[in-house]
Amino acid sequence: MDLGITGRVAIVTGASRGLGRQAALSLAGEGVSLVVCARGVERLEETALELRAAGAEVVAVEADATVTADLERLFAAAVAAFGQVDIVVNNVGGRSGNGGLEATSDAELERAFDLNVIGALRLIRLAIPGMRERRWGRVVNIASIFGREHGGPTIGYMTAKAALIAATKHLALELARDGILVNSVAPGSILFPGGSWDRFVMTQTPEAVEAFIQTNLPMGRFGWPEPVGDLVAYLSSERAGLIAGACINIDGGQSHSLF
Ligand SMILES: NC(=O)c1ccc[n+]([C@@H]2O[C@H](COP(=O)([O-])OP(=O)(O)OC[C@H]3O[C@@H](n4cnc5c(N)ncnc54)[C@H](OP(=O)(O)O)[C@@H]3O)[C@@H](O)[C@H]2O)c1
Repeated sequence: MDLGITGRVAIVTGASRGLGRQAALSLAGEGVSLVVCARGVERLEETALELRAAGAEVVAVEADATVTADLERLFAAAVAAFGQVDIVVNNVGGRSGNGGLEATSDAELERAFDLNVIGALRLIRLAIPGMRERRWGRVVNIASIFGREHGGPTIGYMTAKAALIAATKHLALELARDGILVNSVAPGSILFPGGSWDRFVMTQTPEAVEAFIQTNLPMGRFGWPEPVGDLVAYLSSERAGLIAGACINIDGGQSHSLF
């Protein structure tokens, strides 16, 4: 299926490894030009090389998605290189703090929101005027099944991901008439080298890992990044023209609250 986005321009945040890297690779496979960011330059440059090898034009920008000035610089770099931004993939996110409310400081709660929500909203705000003018845009926010039901590492993570899903719905309704479609995806536990589940597997006993899989993962294995990247590319595409405000689980049946 041709997704109809050859020549479009995408920003993918946190694209040097894991789900962001895979989203960028899937978009590269569709002929999309890419502006990718991360804080660590070395890994980011490696990913940029991979994306170029896949045929994409790529600009790699060292940027922290929780810093407003960095997001402005990232967006400006995209416009300088490619003239416009058609697709925004807000992938940066993660945990902050360590458990429940009493174990979590205000600073950790604020950090969770900066990391998972506020940076994403700032980047979308930068992209809206151009998308609106051209009457075409796609935004995909990477949430989590633990923004939809109980689970995940911390109260900050769960609450912030839920807020990201809520913001996605709000933005979708704000922007649908302008041809800007805003959606989110909710992955389950996805394993890749250097990721949090890789660390879990490395640091737990084989028995504990197997017990986790048996209890939580109906497919009998962790998820893997490729289907997530492909879902992001689809939601970023012309073909997804009727999808707005959705949050799509991609978890091999791991979540329980929706059927
Ligand atoms: N993996 C899973 O099982 C899973 C499940 C559900 C949801 N998710 C969500 O999916 C997204 C990606 O997760 P992942 O597991 O692929 O994450 P990851 O392994 O932590 O990778 C995150 C990527 O983002 C970059 N990054 C981290 N903080 C950043 C910041 N402040 N500014 C710019 N770049 C930053 C990292 O590079 P640098 O460190 O060099 O900056 C890296 O390229 C997150 O929103 C996460 O919550 C993941």
